[in-house]
Amino acid sequence: MRDVIIVGAGVTGLTAALRLTEAGHDVLVLEARDRVGGRLSTEAHGPAGAESDFEVGGQWVSPDQTALIALVEELGLTTYSRYRTGDSLYVDTDGGTHRFTDDLPLPAATNAEVDRLSEALDTLARELDPDRPWEHPDAHALDRVTFQAWLESQSDDPVAVAMVSLFIGPAMLTKPAHAFSALQAGLMAASAGSFHHLVDADFILDKRVAGGLASVPAALAARLGDRVRLEADVTAVRWNDDGVTVTVDGELLTARRLVLALPPTHVSRIRLDPALPTEHRAAREHQSFGLVLKVQAEYDTAFWREAGLSGTGFAPFQLVHEIYDNTTDVAETGSGYGTLVGFVSDVHADEALRWSAEERRAKVLASMAAYFGDAALSPRTYVESTWHDQELTGGAYGTSFDVGGLSRWGAVLRQPVGPIHFGSSDVAGLGFQHVDGAVRVGHDLAAELATALGG
Ligand code: FDA
Repeated sequence: MRDVIIVGAGVTGLTAALRLTEAGHDVLVLEARDRVGGRLSTEAHGPAGAESDFEVGGQWVSPDQTALIALVEELGLTTYSRYRTGDSLYVDTDGGTHRFTDDLPLPAATNAEVDRLSEALDTLARELDPDRPWEHPDAHALDRVTFQAWLESQSDDPVAVAMVSLFIGPAMLTKPAHAFSALQAGLMAASAGSFHHLVDADFILDKRVAGGLASVPAALAARLGDRVRLEADVTAVRWNDDGVTVTVDGELLTARRLVLALPPTHVSRIRLDPALPTEHRAAREHQSFGLVLKVQAEYDTAFWREAGLSGTGFAPFQLVHEIYDNTTDVAETGSGYGTLVGFVSDVHADEALRWSAEERRAKVLASMAAYFGDAALSPRTYVESTWHDQELTGGAYGTSFDVGGLSRWGAVLRQPVGPIHFGSSDVAGLGFQHVDGAVRVGHDLAAELATALGG
């Protein structure tokens, strides 16, 4: 019998596995896919023989993500800065495009409202412990009101409300602001240190990892060697207080403890016998993935740079609500190609997924052209992420509670049941929904397991 079986070779599972192995425990990681990394993946796309690498999942690292930064250094990986020289763009409600450097080019009264609402959110974020948002004195009241209603109760300026909701709804939880609570929004802000960090693209989208962020799980897996088994889809687990028996492709594997390093939405894919207690099942049934299409367009040159543009743009009323220069470090590729990355989120993503692939590509590129002009219409390569179509993920970027769920069940998601422990970036405090959160939860799980195993 092994000490621990870990289901899921994303960053959470692999980090926990590495720390437990270093502490002398006998660990096996089972991963259903034919690769490690979960929501981190680099894919090659483009003309045959001249493909480029595209990071289709998570990619950016910010200065507050100290657990991830330390791991990147420990693994001997390096980072480089996202391109940000030049003016940013804002596309207004009428489709007019405006350049700006600091403040958004909005009427002074609207900018003042944006500042006021941002400060209200930051006050809430300062009061919240991201590891225990349900302990905030007003947690229940804040969890009963949607973020949209919370913003509208404080401002009657629709553009200011749209701007502030953009950076939590479409840009982070990838759900419309009427689908989650003010408490959930406060957690999102607190998990990044402050709401201002989420608004500041130069902070939250600061660095990329050379070779791609998927190099992190690849390097973790290399250290774990044959302790990681791919194409091992765990379908059933029998458990009692002494341990677990895990079924993979008809094979039975035993361990004293089990870690389900999966999004909360994916625990029910595994038949657990006996079933989890009602509260644990209910908690996970009230979690869901957001929905966002990450769209990347690679051009012969980064033409926007010649016009003095950074590639950064915001447009709360466009199909593509935010856009950035995503050119891979030229020192790395030497290609000279330029890449833009944009995002189509929540209700816009619902609509976009009803269109044919050709129609979607045309409309996405037209929206990119609203920022950068007709040159954006003709990329050499166009790539869409497909996480929503993958049974083992089912959305992007992560999961969150519906209204009222966080105060009711938030504490339940990380509680072990018998020998079964749970975790993923979706249940992190600091680094919530980010790879930094996956590293932190991985470390917490390893510490929890070490105690449980008496080591
Ligand atoms: P993850 O979901 O990665 O891992 C779970 C693993 O379990 C998967 O490999 C899955 O295949 C496996 N699995 C599931 N069921 C199984 C079963 N029954 N048996 C065996 N294996 C099973 N973050 C960030 O920090 N910066 C960013 O820029 C972004 N951007 C971003 C963009 C997009 C498009 C996405 C989808 C996500 C991001 N993120 C991000 C989020 C980030 O990628 C995410 O938080 C972490 O990678 C999650 O890691 P976990 O290990 O927690 O879960």
